[in-house]
Amino acid sequence: MKNIVILGSTGSIGTQTLEVLKDLSGFNVFGLAAGSNKEMLKEQILKHRPKFAALANQEAAFALAQEVDIPVLSDVDGLCELACHEEVDIVVVSIVGSAGLRPTLEALKAGKKIALANKETLVSAGHLVMEYADQIVPIDSEHSALWQCLEGRNKEEVSKLILTASGGPFRNYKGSLEDVTIEQALNHPSWKMGGKITIDSATLMNKGLEVIEAHWFFGTDYDDIEVIIHPQSIVHSLVRFVDGSLIAQLGTTDMRLPIQYALTYPDIRTSIVPELRLEQLGALTFESPDFDRFPCLNLAYQAGRIGGITPTVLNAANEVAVAGFMGGKIGFMDIPRIVEKCLADHEKLDSPSLEEILAIDQETRVKAQEFVDTGRMIRS
Ligand SMILES: NC(=O)c1ccc[n+]([C@@H]2O[C@H](COP(=O)([O-])OP(=O)(O)OC[C@H]3O[C@@H](n4cnc5c(N)ncnc54)[C@H](OP(=O)(O)O)[C@@H]3O)[C@@H](O)[C@H]2O)c1
Repeated sequence: MKNIVILGSTGSIGTQTLEVLKDLSGFNVFGLAAGSNKEMLKEQILKHRPKFAALANQEAAFALAQEVDIPVLSDVDGLCELACHEEVDIVVVSIVGSAGLRPTLEALKAGKKIALANKETLVSAGHLVMEYADQIVPIDSEHSALWQCLEGRNKEEVSKLILTASGGPFRNYKGSLEDVTIEQALNHPSWKMGGKITIDSATLMNKGLEVIEAHWFFGTDYDDIEVIIHPQSIVHSLVRFVDGSLIAQLGTTDMRLPIQYALTYPDIRTSIVPELRLEQLGALTFESPDFDRFPCLNLAYQAGRIGGITPTVLNAANEVAVAGFMGGKIGFMDIPRIVEKCLADHEKLDSPSLEEILAIDQETRVKAQEFVDTGRMIRS
């Protein structure tokens, strides 16, 4: 029996992980943790009966502790303690944003296996996280696909990693992206996900973050990582080999598949997800991304190529800008503007320590928030 902790259990990936675990023998829900959603965590505790819970928000943790009969840890320290508990085997990191960084690193140091959904952690501190490469497996569907396509291959055989992207809700949008609304941006054509990643998918920053994630997961140069738009989201990614041929991984558009594979690897088990029937799909189409309309993709490639602290800046600025857009304070195209401004005047730093990463992350957030607070003025 493997004991599982889910950090971010109340979110889209967290709740889908619980669905997978319900029908998966050999796994036990040991601990559940979230940010501040006390009511939902309480429901999950009553349903899944973990041994421990944790909330990053101290007040919410204190309140929840009065209402349930298990210990409720609090703050980021509480999340770390839960993830590092000696009885824990696997930690699913499905927290959104760089808040996932410390618990991930602490759990890795404690020897835990990590099933990683939280891409911001790898973007922000890839060189620190990948010191523990053999303890980490991907949940992100594209990286799960690449991982499966690369199985048993050596580096010399591989020419390119090709990440597929749905293109988001504005792929064929004819109007100006300056004036699109939050509702339009949240209307993702193929995936149902949390708010932040859905906006990232609309700007294509999500694909940019995934390019950096792929660089760290597979040790691949940025020149050898490509992005292709595939609106049906059935081919989850592809590998081109040196003979010019491609191996692709296809599956139903459902995160419960890569979540389950991350947990059961190297085994493939039966799934609650309906099987993929090619004859029902019609056409699968592919096109090149439009780097001019979606500048975030280029910004991510640039930041990744510079490396060091620069992806931390990219990520922190983007998190604040996306929150600003979702809060109605800035326009959609202000997101890349703010990220670009933060990237333009940061000091480069190679191989930053965790302390330096946390400090620059915070510094960038303050700077980006100033841009958000000046609202649409940043356009001029
Ligand atoms: N959704 C997908 O299909 C998908 C696919 C691939 C990768 N991912 C990645 O997976 C991660 C999670 O995405 P999501 O869509 O599941 O996000 P989500 O639905 O917004 O859920 C986020 C989770 O993180 C928790 N959280 C937020 N801030 C926290 C903090 N400071 N400390 C502890 N927990 C905190 C939230 O708790 P509260 O509810 O209490 O706020 C919630 O449980 C992201 O990095 C995303 O890029 C998601």
